Amino acid sequence: MKITWLGHSAAIVEGKKRILIDPFLDENPSARIKKDDVKADLILVTHGHGDHLGDASYISRKLKIPVVAIYELAEYLSSKGVESIGMNFSGTFDFEGIKITMVPALHSAGISEDGFQHSGGLPCGYVIRDEKSVYHAGDTGIFGDMELIGKLYAPDISMLPIGGFFTMGVDEAVLAAKMLRTKYVIPIHYNTWEPIKADPENLKKKLSGISEVIALKPGETASF
Ligand code: NI
Ligand code: MN
Repeated sequence: MKITWLGHSAAIVEGKKRILIDPFLDENPSARIKKDDVKADLILVTHGHGDHLGDASYISRKLKIPVVAIYELAEYLSSKGVESIGMNFSGTFDFEGIKITMVPALHSAGISEDGFQHSGGLPCGYVIRDEKSVYHAGDTGIFGDMELIGKLYAPDISMLPIGGFFTMGVDEAVLAAKMLRTKYVIPIHYNTWEPIKADPENLKKKLSGISEVIALKPGETASF
């Protein structure tokens, strides 16, 4: 199984299929791969903030692939003519044998459009169970039910935000990795802009002997 970090929260999880998560690419200062270069079979969006919804509508239309999101965000996308699949917490979508489960995230989720705010439902994370179990936390503060995510879905690999300010920082991500009992951590949502500066080496030190930290460069792929 392969995971490519595209920068910020954007990633491609590739097993039997290519699953693109939070494709914020063209406006993303750290992304090397742009919206016209990306190939995918399905898109998952964690919430309606611009740095996550990003280029999802464009890529969905161009590649004729659906967007999975929480119900209210999926309804919003449908109203714009984007093919979408709306689900909710603890629900699992079976995508040709790959199990995709929606899990909670502790964050906000409004959609900004021309200075107007739409309700985007609630923010979420996803667990993708293919050859390995992969947790993408989305934007989140730390919450105790990460313990449940660990118990239920036993993530081998967890993509956790470490940038702080809008999400967990390094110290919270350390405790999150322990609650999840995850073998690997791929840090996300950091160093895109000044307020979310973080050093993945710090995370590596603090998780030494607990979880292996794989700090990818934007566009880089890790194989598991
Ligand atoms: Ni956000
Ligand atoms: Mn964000």
